[in-house]
Amino acid sequence: MESSLKYCLLLLLIFNLVFGDGIPLRTSKKDVWEHNAVVACAAHLNKLRWEFEHEHRAYYSLICEYEPAFGSWATCIKDIIYDRNLNRNVFNKSLTSVQQLCSYVSLQVGNISLQQFHDSLDNATLNLHESYEEDELLKYPVRVPKKLRFEIGDSYHYYSKNLDLSNSFGLIILHYFLEIMLMVGFLKFLNYNTFKLSLLRIRFNNYIRGKFFIPTLFKTHAEHFTFNRYITGILPTRFESLLILGYLILHFILLTIKFEFDPFNIVFASKPIQIARYFGDRTGIIAFAHFPLIILFSTRTNLLEYLTSFNYSSFIMYHKWMGRIMVFDSILHGMSYTVYSILNKSFVSSNKLAFWRYGILALAIAVIMCIFSVGFFRRHYYETFLYTHIILAIIFFHLCWNHVKDIGWKEWIVVPIYIWLTERIIRLFRVVIFGFPMSTIRRVGDDILMVTVPKPKSDFKIESGQYFFVYFLDTLIFWQSHPFTVIDLGDEVRIGILVKDGLTKYLKNKVVNAGGRLDMRVALEGPYGHLPKLNDFDNILLLAGGSGIPGPLAHAIELGENNDEYSNKNIHLVMVVRNSSFLKVYGPQLARLKETNVEVSIYFTRDIHSSLIELDDLSNEPNRYQDDANTDNKNSLNDIISTTELMEMTLADLALTKNGRPDIRGIIENSILLDGSLGIVCCGPPKFVDQTRNISAELVALYNYRAVEYFEEYQCW
Ligand SMILES: Cc1cc2nc3c(=O)[nH]c(=O)nc-3n(C[C@H](O)[C@H](O)[C@H](O)COP(=O)(O)OP(=O)(O)OC[C@H]3O[C@@H](n4cnc5c(N)ncnc54)[C@H](O)[C@@H]3O)c2cc1C
Ligand SMILES: NC(=O)c1ccc[n+]([C@@H]2O[C@H](COP(=O)([O-])OP(=O)(O)OC[C@H]3O[C@@H](n4cnc5c(N)ncnc54)[C@H](OP(=O)(O)O)[C@@H]3O)[C@@H](O)[C@H]2O)c1
Ligand SMILES: *[C@@H]1O[C@H](CO)[C@@H](O)[C@H](O)[C@H]1NC(C)=O
Ligand SMILES: *[C@@H]1O[C@H](CO)[C@@H](O)[C@H](O)[C@H]1NC(C)=O
Ligand SMILES: *[C@@H]1O[C@H](CO)[C@@H](O)[C@H](O)[C@H]1NC(C)=O
Repeated sequence: MESSLKYCLLLLLIFNLVFGDGIPLRTSKKDVWEHNAVVACAAHLNKLRWEFEHEHRAYYSLICEYEPAFGSWATCIKDIIYDRNLNRNVFNKSLTSVQQLCSYVSLQVGNISLQQFHDSLDNATLNLHESYEEDELLKYPVRVPKKLRFEIGDSYHYYSKNLDLSNSFGLIILHYFLEIMLMVGFLKFLNYNTFKLSLLRIRFNNYIRGKFFIPTLFKTHAEHFTFNRYITGILPTRFESLLILGYLILHFILLTIKFEFDPFNIVFASKPIQIARYFGDRTGIIAFAHFPLIILFSTRTNLLEYLTSFNYSSFIMYHKWMGRIMVFDSILHGMSYTVYSILNKSFVSSNKLAFWRYGILALAIAVIMCIFSVGFFRRHYYETFLYTHIILAIIFFHLCWNHVKDIGWKEWIVVPIYIWLTERIIRLFRVVIFGFPMSTIRRVGDDILMVTVPKPKSDFKIESGQYFFVYFLDTLIFWQSHPFTVIDLGDEVRIGILVKDGLTKYLKNKVVNAGGRLDMRVALEGPYGHLPKLNDFDNILLLAGGSGIPGPLAHAIELGENNDEYSNKNIHLVMVVRNSSFLKVYGPQLARLKETNVEVSIYFTRDIHSSLIELDDLSNEPNRYQDDANTDNKNSLNDIISTTELMEMTLADLALTKNGRPDIRGIIENSILLDGSLGIVCCGPPKFVDQTRNISAELVALYNYRAVEYFEEYQCW
């Protein structure tokens, strides 16, 4: 099943590549002489006075329909090609551009055969005038002087070169992210396979990691920074910040370098006009080049995530920054073109053009998307934010498509649309594979729900610490999908939910009204997330708090069960909970843990005694949160504590239990001082995770002769 999924993914990726690079959509190279020569010569010859009565049907009527002018044009094109020692073949190729310009007059005028083109050239050569005056009334073909040919050629070359460069610069930004991620993937591969962490053992390396890679940027990462109720958000870690800073610098450089201006102002009437136009083109194209990664980074199924083991939340962080910069570029693009049209005195007429209006609308939508993505909305109205964001994005891409429909760069829109659709299909597959099983939701603590979901097949593989997006198929909430870590119990999976203010509160009320137990169909989309192999570390410290317990607990079991009796690997699981409610959800897992040599410490921060009694009670009394009506269901109790071992077990058997919060620094320091390398995994309340991250970073830099790695399982986006 997993492999069929991967096969699908691969197939669709190939599909994407083929279509993304498909000839009809790919923007052709703009700075080619078969085009530059045609447009440069046309612009010049069209400005001369010709003895030709025409109806001014179109801009190029004159040179397309008046034979001497057309002959001069062909001659000029050929001369430029000879001047610059280009392949002779270019002349034949230039016919395409000639046809294109003349087809603006009429399709019939544009219907010029290669033979006609050559004939006109030959005919013109027969009575060519080698010189002419600017205001002379011409009735014979003329040769554009060599110096002028260079000037007009360059003028177009500078303009079209900027278009090509901007496209390549956009690709450089894409490569910046892809190459760094490939490198991270490669380092990951080296660390865990060949060198077995030896790279980490270098002191300098550890110092840098401790100071610049691991810590939070300022004080918080998992926790929202809050200035006031409305100004809030998530700050990157220091590693993420460095990557983003590198991108910002690169982007700024790419926006400003390698402009070449035409000193004679032939195509554009002045230097300021040239600057406005070139900068407008640069910013517009680079903004477009952001689309594929913005979309890719927002997807839940992302190959780069497998490659790098970066969290989804990191990708969302890059998604946000690229989005902001894309909008910033678009604003610059709009401003530049406004200045351009004002200087060119074409503002009023430009404003009437469809592509111009689409551009303005697209920009407005992009700005609105940015405004509605601020921390406040994401935090308090996450699902509303998400759906609005998606709908606005669809409108945005539609407007962008219309904006560039006739001029190119559409591949930057097509590729992300394929990525997006592909990923949606994969998501659908995932949901369908899991089916729409009937789940049981129970209340096991004041604010804690336990969801049990049968698996489609008992060999459906779920790695420890992985999470699913859960859809509760109830009329009011079926459209929402919330991430929850699952515990794999073989035939079923179990989820512990800490009740918050949105969907989880609604669920809790439903369960309470149903008397403490409720059956509901659910859809599970996943599994997502993957930690690098912890097996290679000599020692592992797992820190978990509250509803963050399932990930670290699953790792502890997996590591513990694979650890043979005689190995001196130290696995230490520290769990911090208010009371034993959460432990109840994970009862069967705790029982498995008892069979291993994992060292377990449990800290009760609210009340240790009642907790112990409560867990004991479970073995012979019905759950006090359960309605009497349901107690006749014998299985319900066994579902909670399904293994007999646990019933006979008191927590003291399993773990060292303590009162109050743990001394995180002390615990980490003790683990670092053990022999060998250490992997630290943390998941829990945001403050707890941030604190652990920063203490770990500090100690990595301090004990820089030790190989220590920090993994954060907590995510927020
Ligand atoms: C990878 C992962 C695993 C998780 N595992 C567990 C778990 O095992 N047990 C548990 O109790 N909680 C877990 N959570 C947290 C859980 O997803 C949220 O508490 C839940 O979505 C809140 O729903 P609500 O509507 O009641 O929240 P609200 O009260 O509306 O919001 C509370 C917080 O949750 C965030 N949030 C709300 N909806 C979503 C969403 N769809 N996606 C992402 N964030 C959202 C909000 O931004 C806000 O910060 C996990 C979160 C993540 C990211
Ligand atoms: N993979 C994931 O991303 C993932 C998975 C599961 C859960 N989650 C998230 O993880 C969080 C879990 O938090 P929760 O609300 O369930 O926890 P909680 O009940 O608020 O706290 C759990 C325990 O941690 C203790 N604690 C809090 N801050 C601490 C600190 N700085 N140092 C030491 N101990 C500390 C608390 O002690 P006190 O009683 O003294 O406060 C409490 O005993 C939730 O936000 C949930 O959404 C994320
Ligand atoms: C260009 O076209 C002409 C006319 O068809 C042909 O004779 C000539 O060989 C072509 N030149 C090249 C370089 O292909
Ligand atoms: C173009 O010209 C050729 C020959 O002169 C003719 O056969 C053809 O129908 C024309 N095509 C159009 C679109 O006018
Ligand atoms: C070239 O000149 C000849 C004779 O002057 C004329 O008959 C012919 O139509 C011309 N060809 C073109 C393509 O103009």
